[in-house]
Amino acid sequence: MPVPLTAGKTITASAEETLAYGRRVAAEMRAPLLVFLSGDLGAGKTTLAKGIISGLGAAREEEVTSPTFTLVHEFRGPVRVFHVDLYRIEGRADLQTLGLEDLLASPSIVLVEWPEKWALASDWPALHIRLAALPDDTHSIEVL
Ligand SMILES: Nc1ncnc2c1ncn2[C@@H]1O[C@H](COP(=O)(O)OP(=O)(O)OP(=O)(O)O)[C@@H](O)[C@H]1O
Ligand SMILES: [Mg+2]
Repeated sequence: MPVPLTAGKTITASAEETLAYGRRVAAEMRAPLLVFLSGDLGAGKTTLAKGIISGLGAAREEEVTSPTFTLVHEFRGPVRVFHVDLYRIEGRADLQTLGLEDLLASPSIVLVEWPEKWALASDWPALHIRLAALPDDTHSIEVL
């Protein structure tokens, strides 16, 4: 696999490979950091988040579940990690109620699924990763 966190595309042939990729890139991540995970339903965003969060030592892989209904999960390990899923957010009012800006009060690593729903103004460094399920059953992970 190519060196993590440099721009470019990686193809993974299984969820386990995506988890492993996530654990590898986690080793290069330092708070504060925003990680935007974009891509369609089933693209592998949560799978990658699992790899990253477990790689950061903030939780065990099986403790990382999709925040689709809870919207935000917080993990406290050697580094504080938030895992956010904005799929169900509809409009500005919802977003304001959620108060995502509060997450940025102290340095952490914030992983965001469906980041296009959040028009964020922040000076934190941001990593944009786009995922896709490909027709041949592999998945692509593109660091933009
Ligand atoms: N190479 C792969 N990388 C990632 N996931 C894979 C891969 N191959 C198969 N899968 C499967 O594809 C599914 C990806 O689902 P996942 O929940 O990670 O997607 P998501 O992008 O978070 O979707 P949603 O938008 O619904 O939150 C999982 O069931 C996973 O096991
Ligand atoms: Mg998901």
